[in-house]
Amino acid sequence: MCGIVGYIGSQNSAPILIDGLKRLEYRGYDSAGLGIYCENRLNVVKAKGKVSVLEAKAEESKIQGTIGIGHTRWATHGIPNEINAHPHFSSDETILLVHNGIIENYAILKDFLIGKGYHFKSETDTEVLANLIDFYYKENNDLLEAVRKALLRVDGTYGIAVISKKEPDKIVVAKNGSPLVIGLGENENFVASDVNALIAHTKKVIYLEDNEIGYVTKDSYLIKSLDNATLNKEISEVDMDLEELSKGGYPHYMLKEIMEQPESLANTFRGRYIEEEGIAKLGGLFGYEERILNSNRIIISACGTSWHAALVGEYLFEQYAGIPVEVEYASEFRYRNPILSKNDTVIFISQSGETADTLAALKEAKRKGALTVGIVNVVGSSIARASDTGVYIHAGPEIGVASTKAFTSQVMTLALITLLLARMKNMSLEEGKEIIQAIQELPAKVQEILNHNSFIKKVAEKLSDAKNFLYLGRGIHFPVALEGALKLKEISYIHAEGYPAAEMKHGPIALIDENMPSVFIAPKDAIYDKVLNNIEEVKARNGQVLAIADKDDDQIDKLADYSIKIPRTHDMLMPILTVIPLQLLAYHIAVKKGLNVDQPRNLAKSVTVE
Ligand code: F6R
Repeated sequence: MCGIVGYIGSQNSAPILIDGLKRLEYRGYDSAGLGIYCENRLNVVKAKGKVSVLEAKAEESKIQGTIGIGHTRWATHGIPNEINAHPHFSSDETILLVHNGIIENYAILKDFLIGKGYHFKSETDTEVLANLIDFYYKENNDLLEAVRKALLRVDGTYGIAVISKKEPDKIVVAKNGSPLVIGLGENENFVASDVNALIAHTKKVIYLEDNEIGYVTKDSYLIKSLDNATLNKEISEVDMDLEELSKGGYPHYMLKEIMEQPESLANTFRGRYIEEEGIAKLGGLFGYEERILNSNRIIISACGTSWHAALVGEYLFEQYAGIPVEVEYASEFRYRNPILSKNDTVIFISQSGETADTLAALKEAKRKGALTVGIVNVVGSSIARASDTGVYIHAGPEIGVASTKAFTSQVMTLALITLLLARMKNMSLEEGKEIIQAIQELPAKVQEILNHNSFIKKVAEKLSDAKNFLYLGRGIHFPVALEGALKLKEISYIHAEGYPAAEMKHGPIALIDENMPSVFIAPKDAIYDKVLNNIEEVKARNGQVLAIADKDDDQIDKLADYSIKIPRTHDMLMPILTVIPLQLLAYHIAVKKGLNVDQPRNLAKSVTVE
């Protein structure tokens, strides 16, 4: 979603800002811009579309200066065009602002400002904020104080960076519900909405919390609360290298991330079990185990792919630990007035740790006294920091918009939590040890599936002309069917639906003909025979079938048009294996169709608005 970068120092800021914006491209955006102070003027360049277009325009305009702010915009208020792109000026061009988030009461504020003689060029809520800051700035020429006063009148979410031509020695920043981080360099400082934009320059960062405001100069900073108390903030060290953000020789981040799964999974479980006791050991949950185990119920809340991982989690917790679980879309949970008490545990799953709906649901659960547990990938992200406790999935940076390795690491984390709780309850030592052995063997099995990449590519190419797909699975593989369908929709723009296989005959079967492939997730588990019956039903209607099946399953070859064979593991971990062919299938279909796999249209990596 939207991205912010800012620079103040002695170098020309334009290339630094452009480079920062490029590192935020993965978040999804549809226009970009930058604003730089030079010789008593604030100069702005904006472009619809890609940062490369902005870069060309910036070079042509020769914009330069040692203090500047940049932005990638994902349209919310007003269409993606240059006028609506950030940065936005105040009416008399004294102030320049970039903003992530949504000002909910912008219409009331706009009317107020129009009454005071302000005029507006764009349709954005951001321009309203720029003018509101200007309104207070005119009172005392103190940018930090003007921003603070303006924000006290704002309802909504924001991460902002502001510069003024009257105080060209500072960038003012503030945060509420949208991430903002300060990067500390040597005689230069940075601001950004995401550490990815900073780590080429510094690993020393300060994360702003909600309702915090501050400024950076080239060699100092000040951070305050919105109610004006000076804060002493901790400086953190970012544990990420630049190489981790590059494509590592793959044509797309998505493929790189799919191929990384043997390693990312190993990073998720490394050091997190005690083999001889057959139990998981999760530092983040230390001291909370009994409270979680004795919860009246566990609710797992998330969005998109993370919600699919939650559905797998429901199955695991109920089946192996005997704890009742409900799974809720975070976007629904936050508005449903959920009945919660301190005897409930709510687990929030998020790759980015910044999803606005999930964060809001978390705050609601906390307000009601429930124990909140974050299962998050991005270290130091808002959800990780706001949760009472949690477990990082350690999947490493996920840049491709379509989530892949984060999903498998989320499921692995849920399996580890299940192992912990189930062993504390009534799972036998023997089964605990069996699961640990299966976990240890999993990366090699994932690799075995990845070695079939060229075969999966051939199957994908044969199916790539289909306009609709059905994904069908039962039990723990129903969420995998949903996830397979989501992957295909997101990056290939082919309509796909996930269904519990047995539900097919209650409606979707009407769609089946020779043009509609059905993808069956059909490992040999307790309901394998039932799934075979469902495959027969599709074949009887001339439907094409692609089956994801066990490698020793010869029976399925007689029925399915195509089958992708996978090894077996403990039932608890099977979703991690069955989803991988579906990730590759979606990837190769999208590549065959010539689409932008890493940045599919209309999608954002981190959905920081409602
Ligand atoms: C799908 C995808 C999205 C995210 C969803 C939640 O490939 O990436 O559906 O899963 O937006 O994002 P996080 O996990 O960052 O909260």
